[in-house]
Amino acid sequence: MIIGVPKEIKNNENRVALTPAGAAELVKRGHTVYVQANGGKGSGFSDDDYIKTGAKILPTIADVYAVAEMIIKVKEPIQEEYKLIKKGQILYTYFHFASGEELTYKMIENGSVCLAYETVELPDRSLPLLIPMSEVAGRMSIQEGAKYLEKTYGGYGVLLGGVPGVPPAKVLIIGGGIVGTEAAKMAAGLGADVTIMDVSLKRLRYLDDIMPPNVKTMMSNEYNIRDMVKTHDVIIGAVLIPGTKAPHLVTRDMLKTMRPGTVLIDVAVDQGGCFETTKATTHTDPVFIIDDVIHYCVANMPGAVPRTSTIALTNATLEYAIQIAEKGWKQACIDNGALKKGLNVVEGKVVYKGVADAFNLPYVDVESVLSF
Ligand SMILES: NC(=O)c1ccc[n+]([C@@H]2O[C@H](COP(=O)([O-])OP(=O)(O)OC[C@H]3O[C@@H](n4cnc5c(N)ncnc54)[C@H](O)[C@@H]3O)[C@@H](O)[C@H]2O)c1
Repeated sequence: MIIGVPKEIKNNENRVALTPAGAAELVKRGHTVYVQANGGKGSGFSDDDYIKTGAKILPTIADVYAVAEMIIKVKEPIQEEYKLIKKGQILYTYFHFASGEELTYKMIENGSVCLAYETVELPDRSLPLLIPMSEVAGRMSIQEGAKYLEKTYGGYGVLLGGVPGVPPAKVLIIGGGIVGTEAAKMAAGLGADVTIMDVSLKRLRYLDDIMPPNVKTMMSNEYNIRDMVKTHDVIIGAVLIPGTKAPHLVTRDMLKTMRPGTVLIDVAVDQGGCFETTKATTHTDPVFIIDDVIHYCVANMPGAVPRTSTIALTNATLEYAIQIAEKGWKQACIDNGALKKGLNVVEGKVVYKGVADAFNLPYVDVESVLSF
């Protein structure tokens, strides 16, 4: 198959959809890989790194779209790319269609085959192509929390791990899924006194078994949250209720009960946030302060560490890219139920129920587009 990897053109996006290691795997299997010039630069990969694997460099984004049977990307196509997409071209990337009406209509019109990373789903309902970004954001949340606890940033002025004779900082993590677990591991590793809250007793039992002794678990409810926020230095919001907005678990009135310089990190900001006072921020202006409480609410945290994020993402996406390249999208989706769930829009038809419902569009059963 002929595979194209354009340079991401969305504002501040430095990731790339394929590493040189990934390109090497595809080339080794006899596929042709075209990468746009400087496509990997933001993630620290030079054109030469790709050339050494047997991939070829093309000068412009239009060249890449023109030759490729499958485009592998990171972010959804934006306006400048719409006109470059060809009928029947496979687009394998994050789409988040339900929050992009224009994008959905454009992809229906152009007749492409849209495989969305975010809906590839394993039988246990986990989302293997979203997990790597949650891992990055979860680990990063503690790095950011530690930084903003410093006095120069307006923080309470405590060191996460303390020192001999001085107790460590207290970290409260609300939500014990992927983000919460990775955050807890990092905070615990730095020596903080960590509590993870979740509504799932099953999850709390699991976390209690695997976490080190400086991590405690606690049932998430308003009474406990209200009590804990008074004494904690860093509070991480990491809840997810699939398909709905995050609940406001830390309310505005609770801020007044916190110590000045407490740091709130709302990783769940992309689902509306689980703190009432959350509003989305960016890497260029990541924090704001309300009632002397620092709020960090960056909606694309992995964007700050594009090299790590690129490698983490491609570690997860490559195996499916190989299957599509080897078998074609139809056979690959017939053979792999997880990948089939990634089909959203196929040759003008919406085959993912959530997307059809979001815009009142006719829904077509995915099986009907899989016959040869
Ligand atoms: N800001 C970013 O850059 C970024 C990056 C990646 C993920 N995220 C977001 O982080 C959030 C968490 O993602 P995840 O992958 O860890 O999800 P996950 O599904 O693995 O975990 C969510 C956890 O929240 C728990 N939960 C639900 N309601 C709760 C409540 N009331 N109190 C406490 N816990 C509750 C669930 O039981 C589950 O364990 C999501 O909103 C995701 O979109 C943000």
